[in-house]
Amino acid sequence: MNIAWGITGAGHFLRESYEIFWTLAQEHQITTFVSGAGEEVLRMYGLFDKMSEISNGEYLREIFLESRSGKSFPKAGRFLLGKYDALIISPATSNTVAKVVHGISDSLITNAVTQTVKGGTPVYIVPVDISGTLMSEMPYFIDRDACEKCDDCPPKERCPKNAITDQIDLLKCDGCGLCVDCCPHSAIRGGFVKCRVRDIDAQNVETMRSMDGIAVLKNPNEILSLF
Ligand SMILES: Cc1cc2nc3c(=O)[nH]c(=O)nc-3n(C[C@H](O)[C@H](O)[C@H](O)COP(=O)(O)O)c2cc1C
Repeated sequence: MNIAWGITGAGHFLRESYEIFWTLAQEHQITTFVSGAGEEVLRMYGLFDKMSEISNGEYLREIFLESRSGKSFPKAGRFLLGKYDALIISPATSNTVAKVVHGISDSLITNAVTQTVKGGTPVYIVPVDISGTLMSEMPYFIDRDACEKCDDCPPKERCPKNAITDQIDLLKCDGCGLCVDCCPHSAIRGGFVKCRVRDIDAQNVETMRSMDGIAVLKNPNEILSLF
């Protein structure tokens, strides 16, 4: 099958989504569409360079980045032409969900959703903010209690992206993890943070459930049962 995968800028469910699509790619052709924020967040979690293991660049296995897609998103025309059997957005930020619910199509992913519904192909969306609270994985950060502010700071010196000063510049960081391994005080770490789901985001997900042509999935694992 030809499957289109849309990635938005959510850290939550990102690694799980990557693993599910890696599995699907063993049997199906996956074209990946990445929002501008999605591109940044994929890098922060060290996944951007691994995307070619899922979409290797061949026809119908390409990676389309919003940052290189212009403003009219011509590649979204493929959804009208019926090139794909399904579009799956996983993970979907609360921002993208809000836009979909309000019929806005001004980003690569929201435009893909619109064109796919218009083309009569099913859309599946995995929102991150559904209800209650969630534990979200964070990119690397400096643990201020553990950092000894060494004059010679190995993480700063070894970072291939020069992303570390007294802070980590996450727009430069590509999540390689070299800094974690070489800090003598184990002061660089990732980890999980607890987030409360806002009422507006939970309501948007409920509204999306009743939308024509769109099915809402609870988590990325549910994607496997579709194929
Ligand atoms: C490290 C990181 C993790 C993020 N995780 C989430 C998330 O789990 N859920 C969410 O709704 N937004 C998250 N965001 C914020 C979105 O990236 C931001 O709202 C962005 O504008 C979404 O754009 P998009 O919907 O076009 O991808 C995160 C941002 C960063 C920097």
